[in-house]
Amino acid sequence: MLRLDGKVAFISGAGSVGDGWGNGKATATLLARQGASIYGTDIRLDAAEETRGIIRQDGGICEVQACDMTNSAAVSATIDDCLAKFGRIDILVNNVGGSAPGTAVSMSEDLWDTQMAHNLKTLFLACKHVLPHMERQGDGRIVNLASIAALRMSAERPHVAYSTAKLGIVAFSKSTAIAYAAKGIRCNTVIPGLMNTPLVEHRLAKTIAGGNLAALVAKRDAAVPVGRMGTAWDVAHAVLFLVSDEGHYITGTEIIVDGGMSAAGMS
Ligand SMILES: NC(=O)c1ccc[n+]([C@@H]2O[C@H](COP(=O)([O-])OP(=O)(O)OC[C@H]3O[C@@H](n4cnc5c(N)ncnc54)[C@H](O)[C@@H]3O)[C@@H](O)[C@H]2O)c1
Repeated sequence: MLRLDGKVAFISGAGSVGDGWGNGKATATLLARQGASIYGTDIRLDAAEETRGIIRQDGGICEVQACDMTNSAAVSATIDDCLAKFGRIDILVNNVGGSAPGTAVSMSEDLWDTQMAHNLKTLFLACKHVLPHMERQGDGRIVNLASIAALRMSAERPHVAYSTAKLGIVAFSKSTAIAYAAKGIRCNTVIPGLMNTPLVEHRLAKTIAGGNLAALVAKRDAAVPVGRMGTAWDVAHAVLFLVSDEGHYITGTEIIVDGGMSAAGMS
């Protein structure tokens, strides 16, 4: 079940911002354990190399490359390098993304542009350069990472650009899925809720909790109907199902991995 032997997976943001498991790192490791060869990119080579070390220690196959996924020339060259090393790309996981707070008034124009590039242009560029290869293969599986911020808005902490971009990813995935459905290429979105990834300690504890990590973790846990944040592995397992042969009839849709948050509505 859910084996990926012989498949090549290109994963963007395959490192993690801090110690522990980010969504891209866990996804790369899980897909490798299921038999896929991994080609991981990250803007920070050391972060991608850490993931490569874990996968190789497990006996898996992984190559990594530093790449700023907002840069078209760099993305194109990196995809060429993946094809030179592995000869094909069966799976594309667009994981790069991140939030910045602000409303239309408080957010600077530069930050809006940066958020759009970080959260939307990255997957546009990856798809632009990978889809022709998948089309030639007659097979491809793409998963884009959105966020609960696309579905639930906060008056306390608005993220106008992040929410807009992440909801845009849902539309991007559907549009791509329908354009390529008859060509054997599937495209879906995973929508994580509040996940306890290194981002929480590395960035959020400092920016929104005055350094009080324990209080932030307790607050995030309490906001989820099941009583705790998810982990990067919860995201990785949803990605695995969508890119697997078992998920062959699923395209143009979303899996929400949020412990019930979106179903619970506003609180
Ligand atoms: N952590 C959460 O609670 C959460 C919730 C909802 C959605 N998400 C989404 O999941 C995805 C991953 O989140 P995470 O918390 O695991 O993040 P993370 O920051 O730990 O990992 C992302 C990796 O991407 C890399 N990166 C950043 N900019 C890049 C660029 N331009 N090109 C290439 N690599 C780049 C970073 O160096 C980092 O290693 C994001 O799209 C995020 O929006 C996360």
